Parts: sequence; structure tokens; C-alpha cells
Amino acid sequence: MRKKIVAGNWKMNLSFEEGQQLTSELVNMFKDEAIQDVVVVINPPFPHLYPVQRLVGDTAGVFLGAQNCSDKESGAFTGEVSAKILASFGVSYVILGHSERREYFKEDQTLLATKVNQALAHGLTPIFCCGESLEIRESGTHEETVKAQVTASLFHLSPEEFSKVVIAYEPIWAIGTGKTASAEQAQEMHAALRSHLASKYGQAIAEQTSILYGGSANPGNAKELFGKPDVDGGLIGGASLKSRDFIEIVKSF
Ligand code: 13P
Repeated sequence: MRKKIVAGNWKMNLSFEEGQQLTSELVNMFKDEAIQDVVVVINPPFPHLYPVQRLVGDTAGVFLGAQNCSDKESGAFTGEVSAKILASFGVSYVILGHSERREYFKEDQTLLATKVNQALAHGLTPIFCCGESLEIRESGTHEETVKAQVTASLFHLSPEEFSKVVIAYEPIWAIGTGKTASAEQAQEMHAALRSHLASKYGQAIAEQTSILYGGSANPGNAKELFGKPDVDGGLIGGASLKSRDFIEIVKSF
């Protein structure tokens, strides 16, 4: 059975104190209300990773993720953080291909493929994001656009490598806008993605790949989204900054 995953993407938010406070609240809630069968990933900005890790300790089911990694292995690349360094700090996941990185940092499909390789080479699980703009959705080419993103940055992987990847469908028009994709729209895209994965890697691998939904997910809509057969969890932005909201989302399964 594929993993159910809820990942919180803090983006570029929270001071050291705020991050510690939020993490302490989450850890306490996870101790009080044991979360069964759901993998929780906390993806803070880089400087938070180590102190957050120390607070999380061995809390069952909670893992650490980064929001990005370099496409390079190591060396003179000022300001970059490699997958190798992240792995050495106990990081398990890395978000790659987020639309904000594609748009503001001009990350293209070839660069993303290299980042995916780096992540896998160092034992990190990529949470690979894909999603369409409003314009593309309205033109009706959203499915082929999203499938093409997956093909371009992931389909060079061997079946063994690919089976370690998590996918997050994040329609750009739903990110931070308060406008969630309906559960039906999410299900439709997730099912299309799964059949696309099956066409390349076969049904068994497609069936065990977790596909998360992201874009204005919150405690009010998570249950309906997660209730769909091909929605295996969420990548949560704004609502991951509030402990109660995040926990409610985790408990929505
Ligand atoms: P919001 O949940 O704030 O819409 O952000 C979604 C997202 O981009 C997560 O990566």
C-alpha cells in the first residue's frame, strides 16, 4: 500500500523562535494524539533544519525535509546547499520543482532532473512538484502540461530509482490564493498522472507512488481531498504555519 504523506512547506517564513515554537507544539500534539499510518514531513528554511531536527528527535512518523537542494555534488558554489550536506544533517526529503522555484529562480526541467539525481544519489526522497497555470487550465491542456513536466524531469530514472519519488500536484492558480482545486479536479489529475506513470513504469510502481495535492489545502477541505482514491496526502503551505491547522490536516485521513 502506498504511503499517506502530509508535508508542511514553511516557505520563507518564521524566525528561529517561531520555528521552535511551532515545532514544539507539533511534537507535543503528535505525542498526545498518535498519528497512525501517516508520514509527516516538516520542510522549514535551511537554517531551521538542524534545530527542528533536535526537537523532533525520534517522534514516530515525523521526518525532516528541505525546500530545495543544489544540482551540484559539492565545491565552490557559494550559497548553495547540496543533497549530500542535507543527508548528513538527517534530512530525509527534499521538495523539488516547486512552481515558485520554476518561476522566480528560473529552474528548468533539465536542472530539475539533475537535482532529482542528486537527491536520490544521497538517499533523499524527492517530493517532485508539478502543476499548471490558470491560463493553461483554461486552455484545457492542463493534463498534458503536467504529464510533460513529469516526463521531462523524472522519466530518465530507472524503475528502482523512480519508486523512491513522491509527486505533488500543485495547480499554480490554487497556491496561496485560497482557491483550492475541487476534490474532483484533484482526483482527475492524480488519476491521469498515475496512468502516465503506469505507461512508463508499469502498474505496480504507479500504484505504489504517493501523489500529494497542494494549493490552499486547509482543515476545512483536506478530508474531502484525501478521501479521493488517488490523493495520497498533501503539500501544505500557509496552513502548515499553524500547529492546530496542520495537525487537523494530518488527522483528515
Ligand atoms: P498554500 O497551501 O499556502 O496554498 O501553498 C501550497 C504550496 O505551495 C505548498 O508547497
